[in-house]
Amino acid sequence: MTEQVPGKVDMDKLVSLCKRRGFIFPSSEIYGGLGACYDYGPLGVELKNNVKKAWWKAAVQDRDDMVGLDASILMHPQTWVASGHVQGFADPLVECKQCHQRWRTDHIKDGRCPACGGELTEPRMFNLMFKTFVGPVEDEASVVYLRPETAQGIFVNFQNVLNSTRRKLPFGIAQTGKSFRNEITTGNFIFRMREFEQMEIEYFVKPGTDEQWFKHWVEQRFNWYSNLGIKKENLRLRQHTKDELAHYARDCYDIEYLFPIGWSELEGIANRTDFDLKQHSKYSGKDMSYFDEETKEHIMPYVIEPSAGVDRSVLAFLADSYDEEKDKEGLRVILRLHYALAPIKAAVLPLSRNEKLLPLSKEVYDILRSCWMVQYDDAQSIGRRYRRQDEIGTPFCITIDFQSLEDRQVTIRERDKMRQIRVPIESLISTLDAKLNYEPLEVLPPGGKKWLGFE
Ligand code: GAP
Repeated sequence: MTEQVPGKVDMDKLVSLCKRRGFIFPSSEIYGGLGACYDYGPLGVELKNNVKKAWWKAAVQDRDDMVGLDASILMHPQTWVASGHVQGFADPLVECKQCHQRWRTDHIKDGRCPACGGELTEPRMFNLMFKTFVGPVEDEASVVYLRPETAQGIFVNFQNVLNSTRRKLPFGIAQTGKSFRNEITTGNFIFRMREFEQMEIEYFVKPGTDEQWFKHWVEQRFNWYSNLGIKKENLRLRQHTKDELAHYARDCYDIEYLFPIGWSELEGIANRTDFDLKQHSKYSGKDMSYFDEETKEHIMPYVIEPSAGVDRSVLAFLADSYDEEKDKEGLRVILRLHYALAPIKAAVLPLSRNEKLLPLSKEVYDILRSCWMVQYDDAQSIGRRYRRQDEIGTPFCITIDFQSLEDRQVTIRERDKMRQIRVPIESLISTLDAKLNYEPLEVLPPGGKKWLGFE
């Protein structure tokens, strides 16, 4: 994944927009940065929070078979022995320079990547987990790891959630949070980071129903991206080959996105069988089974795991929504983000800095600010201010002009087609609320009218 895909936004252009407009900065930049670590700026944190909110809504709020969890990043070190991470990542590894898959050196036959035939890095003993120490003594007994996935926090809490919520199979636990991996190969902006965020679901089912639930989740998760505006032609499913499957997985699909640098994994959906619960049962000595009231039997549930990256989703949403249009003033750059994801929902723009417009403009700003993230901008020409909002994906601009002082009406200008309507300030909140929920712009509130250039 190194080349620029023709027709997709140039990665450098995206990186520069993110820096210039305050979406994403290199971490600790004044000291030269830290490899594969990034900071989310004022707009980036809004976008990222909106991605997580949309995920939580689909994964937890909208379903009656899901609950949430927020487990700690530091866990008992035995967790990672049971999960296979301590042993699994301690082999000599090589990495394919082309597709970035890692291979144990003893799995390589002809010196090339078994998946794509690419060139391989030199082998090195490598464990992806970051180590640190708990307590004042830095010895082997006090070693703990920064979690490399959020999933294990869910598995070790399976019985806690079951007992406290009295759930019946099938049900799932969802969690978002930071994960850490000491990645060998980095680069490509926020695609592969050393500190990143995941959105993971562990869905517990009766053995024998796992294939049906696996299909369900693959479909649900694929649709989540397209419902949030990612173009279908830029999404695809790829089933893992037998050789690729992780040691715990019976089946796995990647949802891939056509990033500016090529098709690559956005999310993985795996059938993890009963591997993790069995392992934790074995290593902790605690019963991790589920008592089936119908059959009066203890069973070990199977697990379907949809595992997504927050940062990769942010990158995909940014890349997919980026657009440029030539106009008489030059180039209009637009982030056509889904309204639910847009960091700023509306901008309040007085036509000019004339002080007569100030009180009403501030009044409108205050009304809207209590409902949404809203910006106020009165610097430079109105055209320039529209452009600035288009470039950060703001769906609606509210303009206050001299006529507004007479009739208490303001103009709503939409980002995508630049159409405008004129509405009474009194119905601004309900109108904007409806428009942010994709009610057509043509639907007008009482007293509202079509405006300049409206077809
Ligand atoms: N619990 C399963 C698991 O962690 P994974 O395929 O290793 O599976 C899941 O990771 C998702 O997390 C990936 O699809 C990707 O979106 C994200 N991810 C993994 N490593 C990442 C990294 N170094 N930087 C950014 N995102 C990453």
